[in-house]
Amino acid sequence: MQIVSSIPEIRVAVRALRARNGAASGRSVGFVPTMGALHEGHRSLLQAARSRCEIVVASIFVNPTQFGPNEDFNRYPRTLEQDCRMLEAEGVDLVFTPTAEIMYPPGVSTFVEVAGVSDRLDGASRPGHFRGVATVVAKLFHIVQPDCAFFGQKDAAQVAVLRQMVRDLNLPVEIAICPIVREPDGLALSSRNGYLSVEERRQALSLSRALFAAEALAKQGEHRAETLLLAMRACLQQEPALRVDYVAVVDPDTLLPLEDAANGALLAVAAHVGGTRLIDNILLPPTR
Ligand code: PAJ
Repeated sequence: MQIVSSIPEIRVAVRALRARNGAASGRSVGFVPTMGALHEGHRSLLQAARSRCEIVVASIFVNPTQFGPNEDFNRYPRTLEQDCRMLEAEGVDLVFTPTAEIMYPPGVSTFVEVAGVSDRLDGASRPGHFRGVATVVAKLFHIVQPDCAFFGQKDAAQVAVLRQMVRDLNLPVEIAICPIVREPDGLALSSRNGYLSVEERRQALSLSRALFAAEALAKQGEHRAETLLLAMRACLQQEPALRVDYVAVVDPDTLLPLEDAANGALLAVAAHVGGTRLIDNILLPPTR
């Protein structure tokens, strides 16, 4: 496994790997962008990439432009050595670990803004967040030039923003979405779970519990968004220490609210548990 930090190096390395064996059209490149502090959720993306593509490239970059001024950029976990052990074990060929200066040299002034969808759900509570995500992912796509890029359903709003970006900019990249990996008790894995105290971790379980409660109702035939929202809110209210950011039943592509989930819907929640903001969601399939 090769680890490189500079843009010229990664370009050369990808080109060399692609051309190996002299295949006429070149070997397929799968790309898994991350901010490091890797866990089993990230591992599932690496495995999906490994099984679908001939070459797997991962990136580790804690992207400053997607953090707000009062967010956790400085304390975000950085565990490069441990991360590299997982990447190596999952058969990753190439790891890109740029610095902020490499990705955003002085004078950089071009940003990618996916209007509309970027202002919904997490975008509403984290202004500028998705501008940072879209910009860094567009840059990474141009640097790595993958055939397919792998993202987690865990960040459902991010999925909507990036799909729209790829469509609007005609980027020649297929976006593959992998299911949410959870702890046995339901908590969605997140690099931020490490911030939680034992008591906060217990409180955090009410996010997935709320989603599962609404999903169970939907399976019994309930498709009115209002009823699903009530069920989720009732569940979250059982943990008064939790500060709910949003509870939503939305269209997974536009992130606009739905009145009825019968054609499929994204159930999404976000809440602050102590000083940690957590998100979770479930996709409801169409029932008719
Ligand atoms: P990060 O939070 O490191 O997540 C990297 C990828 O792992 C994302 O696609 C995310 O959805 C996925 N992921 C995280 N937790 C998961 C879980 N429990 N199950 C399945 N997948 C999970 O998302 C980012 O980084 C950044 O915004 C990035 C796209 C790298 C741009 O900076």
